[in-house]
Amino acid sequence: MKICVLPGDGIGPEIIDQTLRVLEAMRGDGVNFEAEFALVGGAAVDATGKPLPEATSRLADEADALLLGAVGGPKWDSYPRDQRPELGLLGIRKQLQLFANLRPAILYPELANASSLKPEIVAGLDILIVRELTGDIYFGQPRGIREENGERVGFNTMIYSESEIRRIGKVAFEAARKRGKKLCSVDKMNVLETTQLWRDVMIELSADYPDVELTHMLVDNAAMQLVRAPKQFDVMVTGNMFGDILSDEASMLTGSIGMLPSASLNAEGKGMYEPSHGSAPDIAGKNLANPLATMLSAAMMLRYSFNLEAQAARIENAVKKVLAAGYRTGDIYEPGTRRVGTKEMGDAVIAAL
Ligand code: NAD
Ligand code: IPM
Ligand code: MN
Repeated sequence: MKICVLPGDGIGPEIIDQTLRVLEAMRGDGVNFEAEFALVGGAAVDATGKPLPEATSRLADEADALLLGAVGGPKWDSYPRDQRPELGLLGIRKQLQLFANLRPAILYPELANASSLKPEIVAGLDILIVRELTGDIYFGQPRGIREENGERVGFNTMIYSESEIRRIGKVAFEAARKRGKKLCSVDKMNVLETTQLWRDVMIELSADYPDVELTHMLVDNAAMQLVRAPKQFDVMVTGNMFGDILSDEASMLTGSIGMLPSASLNAEGKGMYEPSHGSAPDIAGKNLANPLATMLSAAMMLRYSFNLEAQAARIENAVKKVLAAGYRTGDIYEPGTRRVGTKEMGDAVIAAL
């Protein structure tokens, strides 16, 4: 297994270190990997002037799977747009055509009190958000800032072709078929033509999935329903931007964004695995970050890229064990539990393996 490891910026290197220690501890149990490190994001801008250097693109192509920490930070926010760290991440997603972003929001029972919602609202929560990742307003042309009538005008283009909608729709229907057989498609068809097409294509597709119940929800209502009654959802499918926002919202149902893993897959099943959160500049370098989302992303890597189901479950069970034993980083801490740092959480997960 050749894994391209992209620590990135902020807390990225810390959470990746601990995740690699976990994978390292599983060598011999079918987890035999070669880690190739590459620069991306702000770290790459500092070293090469580019957020996605050619060497990184090449390694990304050659690797069987990619494991990413996070990119970005205030240091680079004032750089010209082509030197923004986020462009490195978007560039890899586009290069490898990683159009299917799976973001599972699962509440571990021990964290019911860490959620900002009442325990009974989130108990047993198990949602899968399927976010389209290589289209939408993130990549649409034209885009930019221009002068018009003596002032600056900013513009972006929200655009989806029916083939792009169909391929992400299929991923979502297939996922729903293997789970609770309920799919909620989220759009803004009351205002935006792009998402009218989104809804039309989802309805067309549903003919091939009579066993899956398809419903539709406008995105503003979906944002509200996620905090009112999140357990009504099984699988949600939506576009790139709505999915970005709704998945951060859903993460809080699980106790912390530090718990939400993700897999970004292409049509050939190649994937990049990364936590859903960012580089958390406010806590970077302080051994405070929760590494569990990254470890759970590595579990998704073992499952989806290497077909190692038992080994993926081994990581997930170790995470359950450390939570049951009371280990908590600051983001999920509550009185009566045991506050630990990033590295100590790594130690605990390795011991629990
Ligand atoms: P963020 O997710 O980095 O942080 C939001 C809040 O959540 C912060 O208070 C942070 O401390 C906390 N948090 C995040 N991850 C945590 C963890 N593992 N453990 C404990 N607490 C955690 O979002 P932001 O502050 O809006 O963005 C910071 C930078 O990260 C920006 O430059 C942004 O572009 C970038 N970003 C990158 C990715 C990515 O690489 N996939 C994702 C989101 C944001
Ligand atoms: C995410 C991040 C990225 C996104 C940024 C950093 C480009 O927020 O992975 O959710 O918006 O997709
Ligand atoms: Mn995001």
